[in-house]
Amino acid sequence: MTAPPGNRAHATPPLAGGPTGATALRPLLDTVLDALTTGAEARNGPLPAGGPAAVTARVHTALGDAGVLPAHGTGAHEALRTLVHTLAAGAADPADPLCAAHLHCPPLAVAAAADLAAAALNPSLDSWDQAPAASVLEALLTRTLAAEFYDTPHADALVTTGGTEANQLAVLLARERHGPALTVPHGANAHHSVPRAAWLLGLPPATETPPPAGVLDPARLAEALAGTLGTPGTTPGPTLVTATAGTTDAGLIDPIHRIADLCDRYGADLHVDAAYGGLLALSPRHRDKLAGLGRAHSITVDLHKLGWQPVAAGLLAVPDTALLAPLAHQADYLNATDDTEAGLPDLLGRSLRTTRRPDALKIATTLRALGRDGLAALIDRTIDTAHHLARLLDAHPGFELHAPPTLTTVLFRPTHADDDQLATLRRTLLHQGRAVLGRTHADGRLWLKATLLNPHTTAGDLDQLISLLEGSTHR
Ligand SMILES: Cc1ncc(COP(=O)(O)O)c(C=O)c1O
Repeated sequence: MTAPPGNRAHATPPLAGGPTGATALRPLLDTVLDALTTGAEARNGPLPAGGPAAVTARVHTALGDAGVLPAHGTGAHEALRTLVHTLAAGAADPADPLCAAHLHCPPLAVAAAADLAAAALNPSLDSWDQAPAASVLEALLTRTLAAEFYDTPHADALVTTGGTEANQLAVLLARERHGPALTVPHGANAHHSVPRAAWLLGLPPATETPPPAGVLDPARLAEALAGTLGTPGTTPGPTLVTATAGTTDAGLIDPIHRIADLCDRYGADLHVDAAYGGLLALSPRHRDKLAGLGRAHSITVDLHKLGWQPVAAGLLAVPDTALLAPLAHQADYLNATDDTEAGLPDLLGRSLRTTRRPDALKIATTLRALGRDGLAALIDRTIDTAHHLARLLDAHPGFELHAPPTLTTVLFRPTHADDDQLATLRRTLLHQGRAVLGRTHADGRLWLKATLLNPHTTAGDLDQLISLLEGSTHR
């Protein structure tokens, strides 16, 4: 046998999959795990100290003169050690209890381990012959999760890269149902991806209803609907109202039943962006907060928020698979008609993407490992932690609490700080690498935002956060 052509000066690097995959990966994983540990030790806090300039300098120094594309390779272990250490040392680590600015969760170890298998096997969900078992698992998972939101026989869901893609798909599906004159009224509290989706899809600009109390006010929405649609009972223009179950900045839930009633009255469709709050459906203690959710034509849910998945893990749920029909698409190399007629599942209509990671694997592995009650316990515990922080702040003379939390977001401000001082305090903590808190405007003032998504956060961690803020405020 003649050897295949190639440059014999370089050994061909091993593959992650196949019969030798595990042998190749195991030692590399040791290197990765060591580098994660040394990187976190070097960082020694929720994020790197020194701000953007210092972090940039450290990354440049670690890469050296060769930069990201050296003329000659350094080998897998050196490359992993250098880059993983550098990234960990320079990470804003959501696993640190004082890293609590955004809807950016610490992933569970079981989910990250499953994601490694997804990377090694690399199934692609655009055709059955690239993902035989993965496509079955995805179908089971999407139907199972959709049934948590919809009490209908053919509830279904698409796996998305997150809330942004799910919201875009919801608006797209509504446009396909109703045509290009579709309007998309939403509260000012809606995620920016909603009006952006209207813009992307060439629809009339989305109309915004101000939410006086942080949630979409049904009376104001009724005025807006009457303005666009005329009085109830007249022929309505095509409309998709978007409500939010878990607002990005305050974790508030719009009154879904009352909004759904209005939609019924005016003949409008309803989409609920439950990217943040949707998984409360799994918690017997908290699912009532989502009352009315199942009346929506579509629901966005993110499992990389209160679902503890590594990015990306989003869903768009619908009450009936038939609602997804507009996404059907044919590309001969992926779903030739005769292949489909012969029984090969057609996957192309399950996304607007073509090549697609099996994000269902990490999600399904997590659900199996924890079970419904295990996941509900994590959700309950994290909400309890947010309430504990709110009580501490409320009882403290040095802080003003905006309101008790609905989900896991706590807005507060130091009593004697003005907006500029508050913004400076946040940036100082970031610069020092001591805490990552968010900021948002509410009631005309700026507030600090703690978005608690770490189920391991303890009362002691919250005391530490308050002491840190007390110390920084009195400087
Ligand atoms: C309510 C809401 N919807 C949608 C999104 C967008 O989700 P993603 O970042 O996963 O695209 C967010 C992000 O925070 C959100 O808070």
